[in-house]
Amino acid sequence: MSLRNNREEEEVIRVGPGTPSGDVFRQYWLPVECSANLTGGGRGGFTSANNPLRVQVLGEHLVLFRDGTGKPGLIAEHCSHRGTSLAYGRVEESGLRCLYHGWLYGRDGACLETPAEPPDSNFRHTVKHPSYPCVEAGGLIFSYMGPPNRQPDFPRYHQLFAVDGVRVTGNGGYVEQCNVFQAMHDNNIDPWHGEIAHGWFRGRPPVMTMHHGRNGQPATPTKFERTPWGTRMVVLKSTKHPGRYHYHETHTVWPTQRCNQEEGKSMKWAVPVDDYRTRWLTVDFYPFEDGEPSREAVKAMGSRFNIGHAENLPLDWAQQVGGWWNLGHPWRQGNIWEDEVAQQTQGSEERHFLPDWEKWHLGTSDRGLLLNRQVWREQIERVKQGLDPIGVSRGAAQDDLIRVPATNIHDLSWDEGMQLFNLTPEERAAMVGREPAWLACKPRGRGVD
Ligand code: FES
Ligand SMILES: [Fe+2]
Repeated sequence: MSLRNNREEEEVIRVGPGTPSGDVFRQYWLPVECSANLTGGGRGGFTSANNPLRVQVLGEHLVLFRDGTGKPGLIAEHCSHRGTSLAYGRVEESGLRCLYHGWLYGRDGACLETPAEPPDSNFRHTVKHPSYPCVEAGGLIFSYMGPPNRQPDFPRYHQLFAVDGVRVTGNGGYVEQCNVFQAMHDNNIDPWHGEIAHGWFRGRPPVMTMHHGRNGQPATPTKFERTPWGTRMVVLKSTKHPGRYHYHETHTVWPTQRCNQEEGKSMKWAVPVDDYRTRWLTVDFYPFEDGEPSREAVKAMGSRFNIGHAENLPLDWAQQVGGWWNLGHPWRQGNIWEDEVAQQTQGSEERHFLPDWEKWHLGTSDRGLLLNRQVWREQIERVKQGLDPIGVSRGAAQDDLIRVPATNIHDLSWDEGMQLFNLTPEERAAMVGREPAWLACKPRGRGVD
């Protein structure tokens, strides 16, 4: 099996305005920043070190700010007058003012003042600065960057809106130096790299939770399939205890989310900065235990990042550290580097680390990657035809939370595990919050993925 030629693959992985995949991404609400990173106001004005903020999303240069209402606005970085960066502007009660000639822009891109023009001038009414609507939810600021007439309802993921627990929002500090397909779509439902990159290459004895038949056990049951939100992989992993199994289910939620961990606790958006960089914005929701934050929640709240990353590294650190990367290299800083090394070194520097897909040899274990590519290409076609891509919601009851049934369930017998394994995505979704008693009492917890 193989992907298509490099020219066609490159057409799929590009995310800028007017590109086929850029148009798909622009049909959804995407997080563009963490709420906590965008400060607002303070005495003596609204401008601060972190208001406005320069952000880059889907290859577009933008500025994010909070005006006097406290609400975020996302507008094009370069002033509609003569292009000065509005990241150096001043935030005021009603908007963001350019430092050069003082044009003032509202959150909706309206040009409110042009102080250098005569007071009776209507010139400002002829200017509409590019802007995108924003919604703040779960500690993240989302924006819809697509055509206004196609703006969907905001998706009510339970990680963003559930109230009976603790929410831990990442700080957005994890930026991978690779394209979003390398960081996310090709990797998310790839169980064998869990076994190898996150297993053998951690320097431990082989974990071998996946195998092709061992000690009389059949090969590890593994499947990849479509869901109402995108795709999922389901794996019934072996454990070191013979006859006891670990059920693992991870979802790809379109356009670019990884939903994993028990109770679908974690939603991670892999947001393209541009064609060559991907920023992870994450929300983990920990349900209360007996009305209190769980121990795991307290631990997560105390950690600086809820997704590992290292700071102040050269862009090509993965190439530089070579074989040192997983052997206690000082740059490691205790974080998980396996995915970054694997993904950031798939291509050469001349290709901005984009892979040379024509040289790939995809085997049976790459079925998840191929399914994600296939579903992605279908969404390109749907968007071209003016249809909603998968998972876009319109007119849904606003009190319905979207609960994706990702999970990790331990200590299952073979029969229990296979019973779960054989359920359809719809049957699994129907079990959320309504698990049978035999299943509800099973231990949950993070597996290696
Ligand atoms: S360039 Fe911004 S006001 Fe002139
Ligand atoms: Fe991984």
